Amino acid sequence: MDIVLGLQWGDEGKGKFIDLISENYDITARFNGGANAGHSIERNGKRITLKSIPSGIFMKGVQNVIGTGVVLDPVSLKKEILNLQLFDESIQPENHLMISRKAHFVFPTHKLLDVFMERNPDYTTIGTTKNGIAQAYSNKILRQNLRVEDMFSPDFKSRSEQILKRDYRFLAGGDMVLPSLEEISSEFFEAVDFLKKFRCTDTEVYLNHALSEGRKVLAEGSQAVMLDIDHGTYPHVTSSSTTAAGACSGLGISPKKVGEIYGIAKAYCTRVGNGVFPTEIFNEDGGKIRTAGHEFGSNTGRPRRIGWLDLPALKYAVMVSGVTQLVLTKADILSGMKSVAICTHYQLEDGSMESVSGRLSENIKPVLKWLKGWDADVTAIKTASDLPDELKDFISFLESELGIPVAYLSTGPGREEILKMV
Ligand code: IMO
Ligand code: MG
Repeated sequence: MDIVLGLQWGDEGKGKFIDLISENYDITARFNGGANAGHSIERNGKRITLKSIPSGIFMKGVQNVIGTGVVLDPVSLKKEILNLQLFDESIQPENHLMISRKAHFVFPTHKLLDVFMERNPDYTTIGTTKNGIAQAYSNKILRQNLRVEDMFSPDFKSRSEQILKRDYRFLAGGDMVLPSLEEISSEFFEAVDFLKKFRCTDTEVYLNHALSEGRKVLAEGSQAVMLDIDHGTYPHVTSSSTTAAGACSGLGISPKKVGEIYGIAKAYCTRVGNGVFPTEIFNEDGGKIRTAGHEFGSNTGRPRRIGWLDLPALKYAVMVSGVTQLVLTKADILSGMKSVAICTHYQLEDGSMESVSGRLSENIKPVLKWLKGWDADVTAIKTASDLPDELKDFISFLESELGIPVAYLSTGPGREEILKMV
């Protein structure tokens, strides 16, 4: 099994890369997160953003698995499937989308509770995507949630109603304007019925059998290492395991079976939501990059915060996940800038320096190295040797610092706009 992970704070271009390489695999499997993800794919000049559906869905003959580590919002998934069929009529998701029986449901009240907590001053505001992700995962950990397999049991409706009513009673005590309980419940149950036509199975067994028969599995991460619940910039993180280890636990596959671990990183950094961001750019360079790179959340439409490439955090992410190959995206967006910066170290309050760190705080000072910028239409370049020298230097610097190759360079949003570098 190979793994694809985001190494920064999400939105590195995982969807595009997976869409491209999924032709080399028999199965793609999402292992974490849920509808908080937004994996954008361009096909025939049109763009679609996938949330819970694995990014291999466009490749005929590839089976797509929503794994056990995912939290599944039936209402959102139903919309996503219908939208996918409108986008491309030739896709028949019933035939190549499979759902883990052990994946947990996101209830509509989880989403309302997410909104409630984000607004209420008694809680820390995270800047979530308001998809009820933390609420579903926390109920899973509390052992109070229902899973996909429960939808086949005769008491599913009554057990779901118990959850919905309990949450609703709590919410009704606050000052939020709420949709009616009947409305959200019936939408939920209709969507659950819709999901019954998909194969809901023990995906651990399916995936392990596939591997032992020599079939190739690609694990798809959502979010990114710096948003990991344990290893990210807590508390401003998501609620799942986004690392390579998360792929193993989320899919039920032994670490012994892992091959390549592709880490995706942008040539700069972005972040949506709150939280520490040492290399954040506050001058006009940030605005230029945001506009050129269309850095607005594909899920929520929020403008993304922009920062220079953060090597201490990137080295940490590569270390924590054992990344074997780097996929560098959006270097084309920096084209035309006189100089571009890379943060090489953090200077701590006591003056000491750190070159690998996941311990980010407001008090660290990023030490920037300025490199000469490049000015070429990178998107038009079809072979690595034709890249501008300044970009080649940028890439070599990254490779020597990280100790892994930049195996692919994405040169534009289009499906074909990617160079294989090694
Ligand atoms: P993809 O897969 C970028 C961020 C949110 C917020 C924090 C917690 O497209 O890279 P949550 O809704 O998960 O409880 O929000 O995590 N976040 C993402 N940021 N890309 C994503 O997904 C994200 N998923 C969650 O903005 O800061
Ligand atoms: Mg995204």
